[in-house]
Amino acid sequence: MDGLRQVRIHEDPAQSDTLPGWVYTSEAHLADERERLFFRTWHYAGAVDELAAPGDYVTVRLLDQSILVMRGRDGAIRGFFNVCQHRAHELLEGSGNARVVTCPYHAWSYHDDGSLRTARGAERQPHFSADRFCLKPVRTEVFAGKFVFFNLDPLAAGLAETAGDLAADIMAGTPDFDRLKPLPGRTPRAMQANWKVVLDNFHECYHCGPAHPAFADLIDMAGYRTTVSGLWSAQKGQLGRHENKAYTVAPGANALTAFWFLWPTTTFGFLPGSPSLTVTSILPQTVGTSVRRYHGFALPGAEPDEAKSAYGQMVLGPEDIAICESVQRGLASRGYTAGRYVHDPEGGQTTEAAVHHFHRLYAGAMGF
Ligand code: FES
Ligand SMILES: [Fe+2]
Repeated sequence: MDGLRQVRIHEDPAQSDTLPGWVYTSEAHLADERERLFFRTWHYAGAVDELAAPGDYVTVRLLDQSILVMRGRDGAIRGFFNVCQHRAHELLEGSGNARVVTCPYHAWSYHDDGSLRTARGAERQPHFSADRFCLKPVRTEVFAGKFVFFNLDPLAAGLAETAGDLAADIMAGTPDFDRLKPLPGRTPRAMQANWKVVLDNFHECYHCGPAHPAFADLIDMAGYRTTVSGLWSAQKGQLGRHENKAYTVAPGANALTAFWFLWPTTTFGFLPGSPSLTVTSILPQTVGTSVRRYHGFALPGAEPDEAKSAYGQMVLGPEDIAICESVQRGLASRGYTAGRYVHDPEGGQTTEAAVHHFHRLYAGAMGF
């Protein structure tokens, strides 16, 4: 069994097999990922602009953990495990504003710094010490001035120091980055595929010709480039033409497309057309299912770009879902062990270098 379960990702993609099928299908392995990977890394919580006023909060779920991120009256953004210290009811849901965090179960309440404010009936009880029942903190960090991330590991390296120059690349590469504001809510999409299948698919445009014919027709694929760096990778392209049957980009509108990945669960990206940016969290639910949570950013007051969103939601998204769900079924096949990367040293349209880069980071995190 041990022989079968060996994983070796060679540092040279041209000499390496891909991750084997079992890492995408083993329940026990997801339990390992939880401890070694998900609970030690940085994940997207929400936009700084959603936390503009004191008491503004967002909640986010990572596997079975619920996290609450809140702006305090002192201006600080703080994260907490979203659980009451009395008898463990969850405290807040969704997003909103709460000057005081009050538990719906027995109405214990907490200040915005996590300290216990009231514990109805217990305050004068002997041996009751409010200090022991503060909310448990979770680290947060603001990334690129706009995005709030959290990490359940109090000892993990900071996000800015691990993400290198990704923030600068996104800020410089996204049209009107400074003016983009978060759209309300998140759009979740469930998929019958392991979270890594979704990210493997994100990481290459080798499939764009066969699987996204309209996209490949619109973009100058000969100029499409993939780069990898530290904990992130990027794919960038330019329009080759302004319209086809599926998608029209007004002349003079943004002619770029770019997609960035930040290890392990966050992507940033935009399609050609009006200025926008989508931050996506790709999170596991079970070993064979995942959810993508899309958070859109656009210019305040701008009309939605109907052509672009229809293309993304009705064409590009479903094309990728069908691929990922087929791959998940295939990874469980007794007729598959591991595959091989296609590698273009120039980072051109056929390269799977960013899939390989993702797998190297993964193997490192899992101690393979
Ligand atoms: S569980 Fe929160 S007040 Fe009882
Ligand atoms: Fe795709």
